Amino acid sequence: MRKKIVAGNWKMNTTLAEGVGLAKDVNEALKHVTPKCDVVIAVPFTHLASIAAVIDSSKLGLGAENCADHVKGAYTGEVSAPMVASTGATYVILGHSERRQYYGETSETLKVKVGLALENALTPIFCIGEVLEERENGTYLDVVKKQIEEALFDLSAEDFGKIILAYEPVWAIGTGKTATDDQAEEMHAFIRSVIAKKYGDQVADDCSILYGGSCKPSNAAQLFAKPNVDGGLIGGASLEAESFMGIVNAF
Ligand code: PGA
Repeated sequence: MRKKIVAGNWKMNTTLAEGVGLAKDVNEALKHVTPKCDVVIAVPFTHLASIAAVIDSSKLGLGAENCADHVKGAYTGEVSAPMVASTGATYVILGHSERRQYYGETSETLKVKVGLALENALTPIFCIGEVLEERENGTYLDVVKKQIEEALFDLSAEDFGKIILAYEPVWAIGTGKTATDDQAEEMHAFIRSVIAKKYGDQVADDCSILYGGSCKPSNAAQLFAKPNVDGGLIGGASLEAESFMGIVNAF
């Protein structure tokens, strides 16, 4: 059965001390509720080990925001999937639109990163989504289909079953412009149909597909009420425990 998940994406925010403080606040808040979803925070590499040491991993999952497309060696400045796993993290965001846009990540590199994440027992939270122009010219479904096919469709059904997808329309990220619940549902249902065609109905039905892009406590419940929206990938609103928990509690 597919999981409901709310995952925070801290991006390049917080110093180490601030990040540990925020993680502790979220961890503390989770002691007082029984969320109807899994809760994950994806944090900067520098924070992973320290945060792993202060959270209850049975209640709060921990992830990185990226990993390298190599295992080790002469790649100055990169952080590999085994390194991420060695901190205690069990998730990794891959293919975020900011990585694709600003750091030139392609489906080819992402395919390698997904493979390395899986080999190291990290659960990829794989991001897909169209830019505004593609939304407006009507190619958005094709664009997202291609992103999934190119990076993920060489996986076995078993490995595909380990992936969490996050649909993040680029025009909605950090802009305050959320996709409507109907726009999200249309895309999520479409994504599920694409998966079903390749891997069958069961794999498609079991896949968690999160929505991301200006998701906040005030709109989360409406988005999460849609049958194909299984939770959210939360940027800005994950940087305060109260607003993040507001979204967690929207389920
Ligand atoms: P946002 O970011 O919630 O700040 O729009 C979401 C994301 O980029 O994952």
